[in-house]
Formats: sequence, structure tokens, C-alpha cells
Amino acid sequence: MKNTGNILSINKLSKKKMCHIKGRKTRNPLHPEVQARLKQLEKLLEKQENTCWEIGDVCIELMDKYYLSLRQIGKATNYTKARISHFHLTCRTFPKDTREGFTFQDSLAARQIYLCMSRLNMSVLEIRDRISTLKDRSTRSARAYFVKILMDREINQSIAHSAKVGIQGGNIINHCHHADWRTIIPQLPDNSVKLFIADPPFGGYQKDKNGSYNSFASSTNGMRDDCDFGTTETSLEVTLPLFKLCLPKLAKNGVLLLFQAGARPDNPSILLEAKKQGWECRYALTWLKGHIVVGDHHNPYRVCTEKILVFIKKGDRVRRHEKGTPSSDILDFRTETMNATRKMDTGKMGYGDYHQFQKPETLMDFLTKTHTYPGDLIVEPFGCSGSGVVSAIKHSRKWVYIESNQNNYAWGSGRIHTLLSQFSVQAG
Ligand SMILES: C[S@@+](CC[C@H](N)C(=O)[O-])C[C@H]1O[C@@H](n2cnc3c(N)ncnc32)[C@H](O)[C@@H]1O
Repeated sequence: MKNTGNILSINKLSKKKMCHIKGRKTRNPLHPEVQARLKQLEKLLEKQENTCWEIGDVCIELMDKYYLSLRQIGKATNYTKARISHFHLTCRTFPKDTREGFTFQDSLAARQIYLCMSRLNMSVLEIRDRISTLKDRSTRSARAYFVKILMDREINQSIAHSAKVGIQGGNIINHCHHADWRTIIPQLPDNSVKLFIADPPFGGYQKDKNGSYNSFASSTNGMRDDCDFGTTETSLEVTLPLFKLCLPKLAKNGVLLLFQAGARPDNPSILLEAKKQGWECRYALTWLKGHIVVGDHHNPYRVCTEKILVFIKKGDRVRRHEKGTPSSDILDFRTETMNATRKMDTGKMGYGDYHQFQKPETLMDFLTKTHTYPGDLIVEPFGCSGSGVVSAIKHSRKWVYIESNQNNYAWGSGRIHTLLSQFSVQAG
């Protein structure tokens, strides 16, 4: 870029003359020197590919030395104000001595990420360094990369917090209990639980000769399927007392989510008992477990759903808690069992290394965020693989895990302790 002599003298011009240069208040044409710069800019914009830095620098000169506005530059070059500002702001962010070895595109992406992700606590230079090492350096992928860093960091902080509370906590909260839930829940403080996630055995699974439950669906072959209680009567036996025992423990605007079999009418005994104990079933949600699959000649309707009944204390309200989670009554969260079966079939996972009852973490994350705030207490009376508690820990909620079956307890509590133990050193 040329000279400074002229520019300095132009800077010293009187206000009236400046108006003349800008052509704003008078109809006089722009100063020839400004016109020349704009022409130069137009040419650079035509080439653009390798001239982004230059474009930005000329824009800065036009703005700082000749007092042109972005709008004026845009108008003169047929470019939008927003596009022009990409050039000049990136050049301002990265002065000439910081540009060597970096592309304009990486610098542009770094500036945008720096502005919208202040929680990263990284300098714009550090962000650009990282972008330049990525394989796919499109702004979109770079953004996804930094969002992941943020999310991992927040999850780790949250787990560390839970680990700390778990170590300091009493005997009930933030603990895994190998017990019948009916012995643990009465020990909780009154009005303390914001969310009960109750996923009892539904009954109706077929027991084989050895006493374990079989699923003949090919999607769940090879899964672990232990479960205490199972036939319809005994499932009701562990489900119905929920309403009496959980009500005094429920916090204001708290919710009891009761999973039930899909494609079946609601069990009248459950609804009657809930009503008798002072609950109201506010919603019957449908959890769509994956792709819709069709049945066959013998079984014309394949069931791809489970129900989630949302119970609240009569007269209370269901409130959406953390932002960003409004939904319809159909919750579309793919079950992980199909994926696990595929892995077992290809030897990437051992047979029995996954539990048939395991709920996807995405569904649990959704329910956690919808019904609780950080610090609230979530209780999973039928803990099994512990997906609800894993989600609670990840999102800084307090938790209680209860499971009566020995194998399932070992499975679920192991998963929870593995998660917590990664952080217990820092947390302690
Ligand atoms: C359908 S599974 C729950 C699955 C769980 N939501 C998950 O994501 O893994 C039901 C679990 O409740 C357990 N269970 C049955 N009766 C129980 C009781 N009275 N107290 C505690 N757990 C019980 C069973 O052993 C079984 O593991």
C-alpha cells in the first residue's frame, strides 16, 4: 500500500472538507484518492482467493484514514456490509506480524469462534493454532471441535463435583444401594426429590427353563437380561407402592416418570392407585426407540415404542427446566441395543457385554434437563444399568441409585463408580 504523506494531510483536513471526501453530506464526488483505493479494492475482491488479507487491509485504510463507513465501501464495491466486515475485522484481529504461516480462512474461523465461545478461555491465537492442525478445517467442523472441548470440560467438572459430593455425602444421597427400593426411599428427606425415574419390570417377558428372561427379538440377542420380578403380578407388586412411598419425598414441581410397555393400554390398577394416593397423570409420552419396523404375518404390529407416564402431585405443575428442551409427546431417541448387537456380531463387543434394559443416555439427558436444574436430586429406584444416574452425574445433579438384582447391581454400580473414579483423585 502506498504512502502516508497524503493521508496525513487528509487527516488534518477540516470537517467540511472531510464531508467532501466522504461524499456524504454533499453531492460532490469522492476524493480521487479514495476513488482509486476503492477501484483497487474492487479488483482485489474479484480475485479474492489469495487476496483476503490485502482486501482487509485496504478496507481498514479506507475506514481509518479516509473515514469511509462499511456501508459506503459496500455500496461502492457491490458487496454487503457483512462480507466486508469479515475482511476488515479479521485483519484487525490478526495484525501483519501474526499472519505468517496461517490462512485467512483459519484466522476468520478463529475470530468467529473466539467471539461466540468466550467460555473456552482461550486466546484467539491459540484457537487459530488448534484450527490449523485440524484435518477438516471448515468453519463448521472447527466449531464442532471447540463445542466438544467445551462440553467435555463441563461434563468433567460436573463429574468431579459429583465425585466430591459422593465422597463427602451421607449414606443415602449420591450412593449406590444394593437393595429393594422400598427400604431406601422412606429414608430420604421429605420434599427432596425433583425427579423419580422409575423403569420397573413390565411383566410379560418370557422366562426360560433356567429362570432368566429371554428376548427372541434378533435386535437383542446376546444381551444380558437379568431382572428381579417379572410376571405381571410381581411387577405390579414393586410398582404400585411407588405412589404411596414417593409422594412425601417429592419436591415442588417434582415429577415421577413411570416407564411402561409400548402399544398397550395403561394398566388400570396403576392409574387407580396413583389417583388414590393423590397423583395426577399429566402426560403419557411415547418413546420411539428407533426406526419404525413393520411386523409380519403372525405379528402384524411390531412394537417400536415404550410409554413414559408423567405423574405429578395433584394440583402441582409440570415445568420445563433447563432451556432448549421443548418437545412433542413423541420422544425420538434411538435405543443403543441394535448397535450393541451389531458390535457383538462383529466381535467388537463380547456377548453379554450390554444390558437389554439399558436406556440410551440421550433420552436420560433429555429427561434430566427437562425436569431438573443442577443440584436437584434424581432417584432411580429400578437402577439396573444406571443410565439415569450417569446422566444425573454428568449434569451436576444429586442422585440415588437402587437395584435389588445382584448381577444388575454389579453392572450398574460398576458403571457409575468407573465414571466417578476417573475424578475422585482431583475431587478428594
Ligand atoms: C427394566 S429394568 C430397569 C432398566 C434401567 N432403566 C436401565 O436403564 O438399565 C428393571 C430393574 O428393576 C430391578 N428391580 C426389580 N424389582 C426391584 C426392587 N423391588 N427394588 C429395586 N430394583 C428392582 C430389576 O432387577 C431390573 O434390573
